[in-house]
Amino acid sequence: MTMENQMPTSMRAAQADAFGDPPVLKVRDVPLRPPRSDRAVVRMLATTVNPLDLEARRGELRALRRPPIGTGLDVAGHIVAAGKRWKGPPVGTPVWGALGGLPVKKLMAAAEYVEVRSGWVVEAPTRIPLTEAAALPVAALTAHLGLRSLRLRPGARVLIRGASGGVGTAAIQIARHLGAHVIALCSPRNNDLCLSLGAQETVDYHSLDWNSLAPVDAAFDIVGGDDLKRLTQVVQNGGRVSAAVPDRPGLIVASVLPGRTSIRPVLALPSRRHLNDLASLIDLGHLAPVVAQRFPLAQIAEAHHHLETDPTPGKRIIDIVT
Ligand SMILES: NC(=O)c1ccc[n+]([C@@H]2O[C@H](COP(=O)([O-])OP(=O)(O)OC[C@H]3O[C@@H](n4cnc5c(N)ncnc54)[C@H](OP(=O)(O)O)[C@@H]3O)[C@@H](O)[C@H]2O)c1
Repeated sequence: MTMENQMPTSMRAAQADAFGDPPVLKVRDVPLRPPRSDRAVVRMLATTVNPLDLEARRGELRALRRPPIGTGLDVAGHIVAAGKRWKGPPVGTPVWGALGGLPVKKLMAAAEYVEVRSGWVVEAPTRIPLTEAAALPVAALTAHLGLRSLRLRPGARVLIRGASGGVGTAAIQIARHLGAHVIALCSPRNNDLCLSLGAQETVDYHSLDWNSLAPVDAAFDIVGGDDLKRLTQVVQNGGRVSAAVPDRPGLIVASVLPGRTSIRPVLALPSRRHLNDLASLIDLGHLAPVVAQRFPLAQIAEAHHHLETDPTPGKRIIDIVT
């Protein structure tokens, strides 16, 4: 193993010893080990809170891992140590990406250091500060993969359900960059945000009459639930729906039958190729984060509470270095 920079033997990290409300999250000293031979260690600058972090903390993913569990999927920082077989960016590189594998581990990215595999991080975009770019990897990967599976053509009318959220605000920008006509389903208080990001139309989902919606070429669902079926009904023949919350497996399986609108589940697994695509979009000015609020690592529990209870759109960024 090469260790070109010094690493301490312990670090501060957020961990929960039990499932429950945000106060189960504590920031504590934990041992820091050198990276395994095919991995590297990132000195973290910032991460975010994603809805999956809330689900893990509440115990909704308990089948995957029992406490203690870490929190935080988005990675933004600098490589400070690398194993002998590491194939990613060299020590010293500012990197950006997301933790892959099981979405819940003992230690995650809300920590001073995190161990990564090579496909999980790429050289960070430079157009915006890395501490802001930290808001994008998971959300933008989900948006990118969800839109790719729709095979949008320029001018295609695409409906985005959940458009004002972390994934949705990235999806609006990427869909516009692809030349699509974007119709954003959101709360009226978020109309201006969605329009400012590039949506051509907004629709209030609270008072929506699905039968009055004009047919669309494709739809990206980022909410889940029973309305997934409604989405398939507003998509024209031959069009597709992608689903970031594939909680209706029966509907998805049945969508392969002839004559049905195909529903493609989305899983935001990080890969070098897709992270590089997204870093380029950021550097070309086509994709920027929407930030609701920043919290220091010590306030990780408050950040979870904020995402759970406050409807302000945008990401909650956790600053590791303050
Ligand atoms: N498959 C994957 O790999 C993957 C990856 C990332 C996220 N996800 C999932 O995607 C979902 C969204 O994530 P996020 O980070 O975007 O969450 P978020 O930032 O919390 O945003 C949630 C958004 O959902 C909107 N919403 C709620 N109910 C709605 C409805 N009935 N119709 C339309 N919009 C509605 C809200 O819009 P208003 O405030 O405008 O009402 C809010 O902006 C989560 O369930 C998350 O777990 C999946």
